[in-house]
Amino acid sequence: ETDKKQDLPLAGKKLLVTAGPTREELDPVRYFTNHSSGKMGYAIAAAAKKWGAEVTLVSGPTSLQPPSGIKVENVISAREMYDKVLSHYNSQDIVIKCAAVADYTPVSVFENKFKKKNDTWTIELKKTDDILKTLGEKKENQILVGFAAETENLESYAQDKLERKNLDMVIGNDVSKEGSGFGSDTNEIIMIKKDGSKRTLPILSKEKAAEEILEQVLDLMKR
Ligand code: CTP
Ligand code: CA
Repeated sequence: ETDKKQDLPLAGKKLLVTAGPTREELDPVRYFTNHSSGKMGYAIAAAAKKWGAEVTLVSGPTSLQPPSGIKVENVISAREMYDKVLSHYNSQDIVIKCAAVADYTPVSVFENKFKKKNDTWTIELKKTDDILKTLGEKKENQILVGFAAETENLESYAQDKLERKNLDMVIGNDVSKEGSGFGSDTNEIIMIKKDGSKRTLPILSKEKAAEEILEQVLDLMKR
């Protein structure tokens, strides 16, 4: 049993994956979120565990059952995800940022329920800190993989994120396409590595896509 474990491709490696949406509170009854289901990140966590990694899953609110045998850190907001991910970063060999982190959060949270009064309601939002960009800046020996969720110019926008966030690989998916992205059981992805090499995959189950991603992570570790 132990011998077998050591033969697994990610044996002895620590891998952190983030998954799901974040939830940004506005008042005691309301919040902002997005359509992320968490399925892709959970599939990566499950595949990494199967391949022998010591897995930490930092998850926003989802309805999914986490795979067994991994460490799960549940978070709600972008701020909480930032703090949790950063607290684990130094000890990781591989970090895959699959979560759909809120880009903006309310400037202030109402202490009491906001009551209906005017015909319109303007809410002021402020940018959240970019977790992945921060990881790119603090990167030592980690393999850092990010996602790019796009509805247009998939390749060029993904390439731009790869460079701007100092990633080893970016995974682009067109979230406006049927069978790709939010809520779907399948995903159609393009993987771009920092050496410029690209791999476009057909629509795959998120389980299969997760293995394809880890396959490329192994390739990055060999270099
Ligand atoms: N991301 C993050 N922290 C944020 C926002 C995004 O870590 N506050 C990460 C996501 O987890 C993902 C990557 O950045 O791995 C790309 O997210 P995406 O929404 O596609 O890109 P953004 O950089 O947020 O830019 P935009 O939404 O304008 O396309
Ligand atoms: Ca974003």
